[in-house]
Amino acid sequence: MSPDHLLQTNPRSTPPLAGAFHPVRVVAVTGGKGGVGKTNLSVNLAVSLAEMGKRTLLMDADLGLANVDVLLGLSPKFTLADLVAGRCGLEDVLVEGPDGLLIVPASSGFRHMAELQPAEHVGLVNVFSELQRALDVMVVDTAAGITDSVLTFCQAAQDTVVVVCDEPASITDAYALIKVLSRERGVDRVHVVANMVRDPNEGRRLYEKLARVCERFLGDVALHYLGAVPQDDWLRRAVQRQQAVVKAYPGSPSARAIGEIARMTARWQPPSGARGNVEFFVERMIGARGVAA
Ligand SMILES: Nc1ncnc2c1ncn2[C@@H]1O[C@H](COP(=O)(O)OP(=O)(O)O)[C@@H](O)[C@H]1O
Ligand SMILES: [Mg+2]
Repeated sequence: MSPDHLLQTNPRSTPPLAGAFHPVRVVAVTGGKGGVGKTNLSVNLAVSLAEMGKRTLLMDADLGLANVDVLLGLSPKFTLADLVAGRCGLEDVLVEGPDGLLIVPASSGFRHMAELQPAEHVGLVNVFSELQRALDVMVVDTAAGITDSVLTFCQAAQDTVVVVCDEPASITDAYALIKVLSRERGVDRVHVVANMVRDPNEGRRLYEKLARVCERFLGDVALHYLGAVPQDDWLRRAVQRQQAVVKAYPGSPSARAIGEIARMTARWQPPSGARGNVEFFVERMIGARGVAA
């Protein structure tokens, strides 16, 4: 397969405005363990941010078990895999969700980031740079596990949100992930969201449990508590309906909690410096891989 197509600009896409600069805040949602609610948080956070008027891109970076599109009831014609294989351009991959939210769907079977060739890296940077003028926030939904690809997405993002729930494996997996992120990837700040909590205090208790171990064994990483999302049947119902709970049942406990998390996220300062765009994110992603290899 030739990666040459990635080096050409898609003629159907609008060229970036000359000199335009719009820093984009990249937030990676991760957690170590599967089934803790990463995808639901990513989708609902992105939908809430878009609803608040933030120009938001949601990237499905669960390259093995992509399901952002399923949760939003979308049927993408193309995915990242097609982009890399040269079957389409970036504009063809983008799907529009509620309130103008842009989605980059993935697909099962997409080759691992680590397998991409250097020329394909350059190509990805080129295609993503076309987006730099139109975004405020990019939310990246990562896969479970502590794979090179997950670590790379987190390292390249400005903020990492670790989702935990009240299961021993969730806390130990989150700790293992934070340890590798801090020791091997230089990540020194992590936000924590407790999901599926059964009472208002459970979230903070979980956070404190994780923070205590991190403080004891990983002195140089700062944990911040971002909030808790209750265990909520409305969320499950929204999943069945293939809609974001914040849209389908905006008054439900989980929707309100995620709305609050989105408002806090929206107040984070935009990244400073002239290199806070999506192109930079992809460059960082590739640079991170180079260092880790
Ligand atoms: N706050 C919640 N309340 C009830 N069920 C939830 C909640 N969060 C997640 N779930 C359930 O857990 C399942 C897995 O969530 P998902 O976001 O796909 O996890 P992950 O991406 O971490 O694997 C969802 O399909 C949903 O049914
Ligand atoms: Mg997921």
